[in-house]
Amino acid sequence: MTLCDTDTPAAARAPDAPVVEIRGLWTAFGSGREQVVVHQDLDLSIARGEILSLVGGSGTGKTVLLRQMLGLETPARGEVTVLGEPAARMGRRGASSRVGMLFQQGALFSAFDVLENIAFPLRELGTVPVALARDAAMVKLQMVGLKPADASKMPADLSGGMVKRVALARALAMDPPLLLLDEPTAGLDPSSADAFCTLLRELHQELGLTVVMVTHDLDTLFALSTRVVVLADKRIIASGTPQEVAQVDHPFIHDYFLGERGRRAMAPVPAG
Ligand SMILES: Nc1ncnc2c1ncn2[C@@H]1O[C@H](COP(=O)(O)OP(=O)(O)OP(=O)(O)O)[C@@H](O)[C@H]1O
Ligand SMILES: [Mg+2]
Repeated sequence: MTLCDTDTPAAARAPDAPVVEIRGLWTAFGSGREQVVVHQDLDLSIARGEILSLVGGSGTGKTVLLRQMLGLETPARGEVTVLGEPAARMGRRGASSRVGMLFQQGALFSAFDVLENIAFPLRELGTVPVALARDAAMVKLQMVGLKPADASKMPADLSGGMVKRVALARALAMDPPLLLLDEPTAGLDPSSADAFCTLLRELHQELGLTVVMVTHDLDTLFALSTRVVVLADKRIIASGTPQEVAQVDHPFIHDYFLGERGRRAMAPVPAG
């Protein structure tokens, strides 16, 4: 079933072309003396099928970098290309068919029930009949492990884990090949966070997704990442496996990976 027309050059792209290609990116807010530069000459290339974890201190520009990939920010300089097209040119509709985003605040529309929240990107197109949008949303609802009976619940009546699942279903509503997750397990208890990681791993495999995830949570990072990149000093300062990245001499990396939790997470599993 094709609900929207993805007239992208994607079909013509080489299968091994990067899904995201960022070259010489500068992001700045404000102007003159008030100007804040968040990214300075940042490069990052993301291949199809990666689960890339983006880590960095608070306020280093992780969310803003995801917003660049979604075309919600404009580069001051440089290029952000998603599936072969400048991100800023995707437009809102084009964006949701190419890129799904689970926002840090995970916000659902409180006046809409679960199914209406998931169907929202399809309804917004204005071209999908209501019944078809609801059917498609019902498929996504079950895909994220919710039950048909949850469809009519209101956001206020959901657990934290369920809210994340609904937001994920909404991000996947238009079958985007690229999924951006901003702190997907923040605020979840450990067992809900584990369950959410398992779900993400399954969806990544089943749907062949490319995933870019911002996380502070080392357990999530180790459970899911195929690669870790570190954002500090306005650019990507390290990229590799957690073990490789942990070797890089930088104060953030010391604190993050070589603190007690990091050492525990990276310790070899004892034999026997
Ligand atoms: N629209 C905006 N106008 C002005 N400054 C902004 C805007 N959006 C973000 N910033 C600034 O850009 C910087 C990076 O913000 P961002 O939200 O990307 O941080 P982050 O790395 O996601 O942090 P956290 O881990 O706390 O979520 C911050 O200094 C923030 O205040
Ligand atoms: Mg953020």
